[in-house]
Amino acid sequence: MKKKLVRRAGIVSVGMYMPPKVLTNFDLEKMVDTTDEWIRERTGVCERRLAVNGECQSDLSALASREALARVGWDPKDLDAIVVGTVTPDHIFPSSANMLAGKLGAIGTPSYDVLAACSGFMYALWQGIMTIESGRADKVLVVGSEIMNRIIDWDDRATCVLFGDGAGAVLLEAVEEPYGVMDIEIGSDGRYYDLLHMEAGGSTYPSSHESVEKDMHYLRMAGAEVYKLAVRKMTEVSKVLMERNNVKPEDISCFITHQANARISEATAKRLKLKPEQLYSNINRYGNTTSATIPTCIYEAEAEGRIKKGDCVLLASFGAGLTWAGILMRWAADPLPKYEENYAAMAMESLPEKLKPIRDWNRT
Ligand code: UT7
Repeated sequence: MKKKLVRRAGIVSVGMYMPPKVLTNFDLEKMVDTTDEWIRERTGVCERRLAVNGECQSDLSALASREALARVGWDPKDLDAIVVGTVTPDHIFPSSANMLAGKLGAIGTPSYDVLAACSGFMYALWQGIMTIESGRADKVLVVGSEIMNRIIDWDDRATCVLFGDGAGAVLLEAVEEPYGVMDIEIGSDGRYYDLLHMEAGGSTYPSSHESVEKDMHYLRMAGAEVYKLAVRKMTEVSKVLMERNNVKPEDISCFITHQANARISEATAKRLKLKPEQLYSNINRYGNTTSATIPTCIYEAEAEGRIKKGDCVLLASFGAGLTWAGILMRWAADPLPKYEENYAAMAMESLPEKLKPIRDWNRT
């Protein structure tokens, strides 16, 4: 049911960070029994980025967030909340959002992680939207950020070709109607928890020699089942949002789905009677970056002029849990200024020693 709101939330800035190291399908051909042709045809992925050389997930988040903040001139100290969607936090605890808040200098700001796998950013966005709508917050930072390469089994060709690392960030603020978030449809079904999961590392199977020997610290997926459910659930949430808000397929300027597989996104768009040009995708360049896929698509679509003020934008996600979400909005921001080169690098240099990248992860 559509809810009556106190006020509307809108995305007013976006930031993005992709680690510079590129891993192509041809590189993967040398690592596992696969081909560039199989990966491209079955998934749409040509290359992906990998975080190496000591980069932590919260570093990726900080760089994306710095850009989003710089583009609208917000001071991190002005933020009322920081919410991060991720399955690859720096640590089990404290949260990666706490680490991010420290790196941004947002001291005193409430910050927390949301774990909803590939729907992580959408769940985090839902949280941010609700705090703005309720009037409890005026400025919220929402981040989707992952270093998937550290939970991938690089010997498993069925999964290692799919994923990549990266981060996207958005800033939320109260906006005037008709702009901003119009409606949300969100849900989960824990009965399917084992279709896509990482078995060990939590309290059920804490890390042990046995868990490591049995490769239980890697992501495992029943690909074909997940594929079908992804198309079904993303279509369902999108249809509900369109019908409830009287939005016709031709009214949608930009449809962004979670980037798990180009075929999943295309099949969903087709079921909604959307034309291929209404769908925005960046999976070819980044692979499946889990909770970073939707914010990085929003970033690139905005930068390419595919999303303009007043445009109807539909977001849909699906992920482990199982979790799903759809968010319908009218884009609230004027074209965003380009961000200054090296701003992020400068921000990193100014970090206190303790919060600088701490480990050498140079394993590729
Ligand atoms: O982000 C969270 C949600 N994730 C998803 O939604 C992912 C959903 N699933 C998928 O995208 C697809 O199921 C995959 C891309 C994972 C797999 O594509 P598929 O078309 O469903 O392939 P399949 O699993 O049915 O495998 C077909 C064949 C198999 O060989 P046989 O048994 O037919 O001889 C696989 O062993 O392709 C083989 N195969 C590969 N071959 C070359 C699997 N992975 C590879 C590979 N390279 N990397």
